Amino acid sequence: EKGGYKHFMLKEIFEQPRAIRDTTLGRISLDTGKVFLSEMKISDEDFRRATKINIAACGTSWHAATAGKFMIERLARVPVEVDYASEYRYRDPIPDPTALGLLITQSGETADTLAAQREMISKGSKTIAICNVVGAMIAREAHGTIYTHAGPEIGVASTKAFTAQLVALFLFAVHLAQARQTISEDEGRALLEELTMLPGKVEEILKTVDGECEKLARIYSNVSDFLFLGRGIHYPIALEGALKLKEISYIHAEGYPAGEMKHGPNALIDETLPVVVLATQDKSNRDSKLRYEKTLSNIQEVTARSGKVIAVAVEGDTDIGHLVEHVLHVPHTSELLLSVLDVIPLQLLAYHIAVRRGCDVDQPRNLAKSVTVE
Ligand code: F6R
Repeated sequence: EKGGYKHFMLKEIFEQPRAIRDTTLGRISLDTGKVFLSEMKISDEDFRRATKINIAACGTSWHAATAGKFMIERLARVPVEVDYASEYRYRDPIPDPTALGLLITQSGETADTLAAQREMISKGSKTIAICNVVGAMIAREAHGTIYTHAGPEIGVASTKAFTAQLVALFLFAVHLAQARQTISEDEGRALLEELTMLPGKVEEILKTVDGECEKLARIYSNVSDFLFLGRGIHYPIALEGALKLKEISYIHAEGYPAGEMKHGPNALIDETLPVVVLATQDKSNRDSKLRYEKTLSNIQEVTARSGKVIAVAVEGDTDIGHLVEHVLHVPHTSELLLSVLDVIPLQLLAYHIAVRRGCDVDQPRNLAKSVTVE
């Protein structure tokens, strides 16, 4: 049943190329550059009129939501607000029937997320679910659902369902951008072409980076703390890397926006602290280049204090190797889709560290796959 893998989690990490392909399949046309979302009782007119998108989710799905904010705002130019579902109801949200609600949930049964959805609906919003389980409660109550086709996930720590959520959010962002005419046909086509190349690129990472992460695990499996840094859309990915490590290896880990380090957390850095820095770049994108340059200065702030940097960078980046202890390489893609590539090394790193520490990676202590209490 584990298909020759030692754990479900590793099997599911390796299933990501297929999960991404299946989530994309049948929803795009490379001829017209269009995204088709079926199962939608929301019209293009609703999409055009939406003044805001409110997203609510928990845990890993909240990280996908936060990455999705970058995708939607960048492409569709509509403001996005992201809430922890467990907080949404209790902050007395301002009713706005022209806002669209978006719930992100693998199981479709998370009690806090369902409560947030009902709150949105009671305030007059239409809601869309991004969900991995057909017919789950949150999908049933939504006006539209974008199913992630990751397939059943057995490992408690989410991997393939997360990357499938990122892909579903990307499709949603492109669709919304098309309805609102904030991107041209050519731009749409180019984005979708990049998307279709993603599974092959994930396969490449799995081939090369798995062994490297196993080696890194030998060096770092006994540390007591880890830090994960990123900027822009890579910041929620840093949070996800920290969560993966915490939940399966029980090592304390924190994710931080790299630019915030100088406002306090730099005090934590010493020669015992491994710091994973997401330092990929899309050279064709001006914002991405700027982000990369700023990230390099953040790396220097860490190394100047003797912190040990493990960088995730794009293939062919020869500059970064001189600055850091270790580099894990991922292929090139466009800025927004780099988020899907740079989480893969973080999943593998967490997995190999947890295995070396003798942890039960598929069934971490104190955790359940689906959280149906508020
Ligand atoms: C962690 C993980 C959890 C879930 C969270 C929400 O790996 O999987 O953080 O993301 O419990 O669950 P769903 O996505 O089913 O609403």
